[in-house]
Amino acid sequence: MMKAISKIFTAFAAVAFVCTAFADDMKEGLGKIDNSGKKTLVVYYSVSGNTEGIAKQIQSKLNCDIKELETKEAYPSDYEELTKVAKEQLEKDTTPELKEDVDVSNYDIVFVGTPVWWSKMAVPVKAFLKGGNFSGKTIIPFITHGGSGRCSIPEDMRETAKDAEVLEPLVVSGSGGANTTHEIDDWLEDLGFLKNTTK
Ligand SMILES: Cc1cc2nc3c(=O)[nH]c(=O)nc-3n(C[C@H](O)[C@H](O)[C@H](O)COP(=O)(O)O)c2cc1C
Repeated sequence: MMKAISKIFTAFAAVAFVCTAFADDMKEGLGKIDNSGKKTLVVYYSVSGNTEGIAKQIQSKLNCDIKELETKEAYPSDYEELTKVAKEQLEKDTTPELKEDVDVSNYDIVFVGTPVWWSKMAVPVKAFLKGGNFSGKTIIPFITHGGSGRCSIPEDMRETAKDAEVLEPLVVSGSGGANTTHEIDDWLEDLGFLKNTTK
């Protein structure tokens, strides 16, 4: 089992260089956004809790609504099996059915959290973006990974939710370290949120 997981992580590490190199060239979308009077939602998918941890911190800092994405059919609980199923779905470009449609019509800003799955956004997140009408909305991604960084996930999100403005993401390795709370604060402040907080 450990051998299999270590093989999987070697495979993730192999894409890490490519992903990180790509990220250096993609800085557009940074900067403050006008969030006054805008309704904000946090949407996320998480298997082992890393992305969920970030999602909950964003929600509690902004005191906004939050929604976890769940699939109708559960993914395998075995990690190796999960990576196989996910890989197959990504290769075939199929998306799972979600338990519930998330209605974004009442929101202006949607934080979208995803783990990196084989250098891509997790397929349930793709299902959410494919299914919604994001016209005129701002998507702010946050991404957790096991070493490969953001990869081309913001660009893929722009491709999937065509009418949305997709900003640069917060990128966190695993569940983040001791400084993650400060990183989230800095990122939200840079975006123009948390104007009155003191660090
Ligand atoms: C199916 C699958 C594929 C993954 N692919 C990658 C990858 O390509 N690069 C990477 O750095 N981490 C990869 N990981 C690790 C996760 O991105 C990382 O552990 C993430 O923080 C998990 O988030 P979660 O706890 O919210 O599910 C993968 C994990 C799974 C389950």
